Amino acid sequence: PATSAATTISALVARGAGRPPTVERVVIPAPGPGQVRVAIRAAGVCHSDLSMIDGTLAPAFPLVLGHEAAGIVTELGAGVDRLSGGERVVLNWSPACRACWHCTAGRPWFCETSGRPSAARGTTADGTPLHVTLGLGALAEEVVVSQHAVIPVPAAVPFEQAALLGCAVLTGVGAVRNTARVAAGESVVVIGLGGVGLSAVLAAREAGAAQIIAVDVAAAKGSLASAAGATDFLLSDESLVRAIRERTDGRGADHAFECVGRAKTIETAWRSVRRGGGVIVVGMGGRDDVVGLGALDVFHSGRVLRSSVYGAADPDRDVPALAEEVLAGTLDIRPLITHRLALAEAPSALDRLTRGEGARSVVSF
Ligand code: APR
Ligand code: ZN
Repeated sequence: PATSAATTISALVARGAGRPPTVERVVIPAPGPGQVRVAIRAAGVCHSDLSMIDGTLAPAFPLVLGHEAAGIVTELGAGVDRLSGGERVVLNWSPACRACWHCTAGRPWFCETSGRPSAARGTTADGTPLHVTLGLGALAEEVVVSQHAVIPVPAAVPFEQAALLGCAVLTGVGAVRNTARVAAGESVVVIGLGGVGLSAVLAAREAGAAQIIAVDVAAAKGSLASAAGATDFLLSDESLVRAIRERTDGRGADHAFECVGRAKTIETAWRSVRRGGGVIVVGMGGRDDVVGLGALDVFHSGRVLRSSVYGAADPDRDVPALAEEVLAGTLDIRPLITHRLALAEAPSALDRLTRGEGARSVVSF
């Protein structure tokens, strides 16, 4: 039964860099061919949302924020065959075309059709077109998205946990499993303990890492780190690299995960690993923040510097698998959620990210 009408909803809209986003009334279109309408039930506030408005990135404005969410499919556009109404779904900000060079090579996270600037897609406020973050704009009561941007998960997964599977958890867990392939007994450093870094800690513990050294600038992150399974917690200061070496027989760790998104912390991660060790850049930094590595050091250290985009995951395969782990209790992501709030309070969650306070704030609808 097609209702096929544009609807007016509330959404978190950023009007420009440096300006606090506000909840606005927004018109979203009816689902077109191949699209679905999703009633959002929970949405996480991710550091990338902050990066949109604090000058780190330069998106087009006005912009509906949000890209980490779960909800219920409420309406199907023409030709939608892989979903039905009432299904519980996680939003995917990097839907794979399955046809481009990277997709056919098994790397859907590099899909050549994703990451293009989002068109306004008929989303408006007071008649003015709005952009939507990563094709989603999920800090909103409803979204209309491609059927390929939603992934069904079992109805038993609580919405607030399902939401996190779509960004922080897929990214942090994928960095450990898919990019670094951490093995039992190895040593791991995780720098930056937000939703992404704590997910990396969880996955490292699950992989059987013998030592998980969690690092942050905020001392209060120590208890979150140990709840996630870190064996050590260190404050990020001038003596950090020395402290990490002291705890790894003077050599440095096997892997370091940079989950902040800054050149300085990438350099620290580099110096934290042993000869031949691997640095995985998970954080998304700014264009003008340049990493400095000595040419002789790059040669002599034998280290590998790699990034992990969206956890080098196939979301269609890995999100349902993570959902099963959550249901089985083998992946307990509840410690990641430190604040629960209404949409109107989302700006305060962005402020907390600026201060490095708590981990994920999840908006419920
Ligand atoms: N050293 C160590 N930790 C730091 C430093 C530093 N110099 N600067 C900031 N941090 C910590 C913050 O205190 C915070 O705990 O990094 C953490 C980042 O966590 P969040 O802000 O919650 O970010 P998150 O959503 O987890 O995303 C992390 O991954 O996807 C990307 O764009 C995202 O770059 C961001 C990163
Ligand atoms: Zn995110």
